Amino acid sequence: MDIQIPLAYSPDWPLGHLVLFDLPETQGMKGFLIQTLKGPRAWVNKCRHWPVPLDLDDGEVYHPPSHKIICKSHGARYNPESGICEIGPCEGERLHILPYKIVDQEIIITWDGQLTQLGRDD
Ligand code: FES
Repeated sequence: MDIQIPLAYSPDWPLGHLVLFDLPETQGMKGFLIQTLKGPRAWVNKCRHWPVPLDLDDGEVYHPPSHKIICKSHGARYNPESGICEIGPCEGERLHILPYKIVDQEIIITWDGQLTQLGRDD
């Protein structure tokens, strides 16, 4: 059954503004919402190389100078808009996406318990 996760949101957030949140009914897995050049994106905080959190649990996955999401284990760099790994051992793989809808000043994430990956051209 889908779980709705409401998060406060503002379209005025600066680029790279990030909110980490728990994914219910997982063993500590998190997701994150990030403001990108194409608006907000929501991804699962899990690298595509090894099944570890991108941030190694320190809450920081965004690298402002490069405008990339970075995995702290081996330095993979993901495009924040597409979720695709552009440099690193998982090059070409894509972060797991979390669908959402915007309602007033909130983003409602839908978590169905599945790790979903869209294809490169989606
Ligand atoms: S675990 Fe993320 S790049 Fe290796």
